[in-house]
Amino acid sequence: MKKLSKKIKFKIASDGSSASGKTTGGKLISKKFKMKFLSSGSLYRYCALKIIENNNDYTTKFISKIVKSINLKKLQSKKLYSPEVAKLSSIIAKKKFVRNALKSFQVNFIKKSRLVVVEGRDIGSVIMPNADLKLFFTCSINEKAKRRLKEFKNQNKKITLKQVKKSLIQRDKDDTKRKISPLIMTKNAVLVDTTKLSIKQMEIKLSNLVKNSIKKKYGNL
Ligand code: C5P
Repeated sequence: MKKLSKKIKFKIASDGSSASGKTTGGKLISKKFKMKFLSSGSLYRYCALKIIENNNDYTTKFISKIVKSINLKKLQSKKLYSPEVAKLSSIIAKKKFVRNALKSFQVNFIKKSRLVVVEGRDIGSVIMPNADLKLFFTCSINEKAKRRLKEFKNQNKKITLKQVKKSLIQRDKDDTKRKISPLIMTKNAVLVDTTKLSIKQMEIKLSNLVKNSIKKKYGNL
């Protein structure tokens, strides 16, 4: 597909549980269609990392200060992807003031973007309820744990498959059961099961979904 015309405005929400493929999928689309990309999980992870680095300072004052200092470059840090940071990010994600503060960052980012993919848990439900396309990723727990273990091993982290599986189950449970902005599949979202998909198959499937959805909005391109 040739570059999308400047007239086209298109927003994609990419939600799903931990390690379900929503980041990989979101990044594939954003690269292919030259769309901006934001991993909202990295915002929660950044706050968690700073809390850990500052002797577990959980005060509203400190967290507000961190949120104000966030920029896209800081969200690229490899330190965000440790098991400790993942665990704490899910704990602070239950706090209303954390979610509200991070919502402003996300809404600003989206406002400035004509073509955008945002991935997370509450993008289609809360952050971008009027998204043009909503994707909801799912994957079997065994496959998710295998994928995440591979990523940890690449970072030389000492962790077993059993530990990875346990922490994914716990995080998914917390994210689905929490009162504020839980992980839910909205009625108009498209379910993408990545359990048996290779990266290439995922790319083909997602590209077709995006192309069809743009055609639906703008007619034949
Ligand atoms: O997607 P990722 O695993 O990087 O997200 C880390 C944690 O941040 C999640 O387990 C979840 O608790 C929280 N999160 C959230 N809402 C989002 C994105 C992430 O609550 N939109």
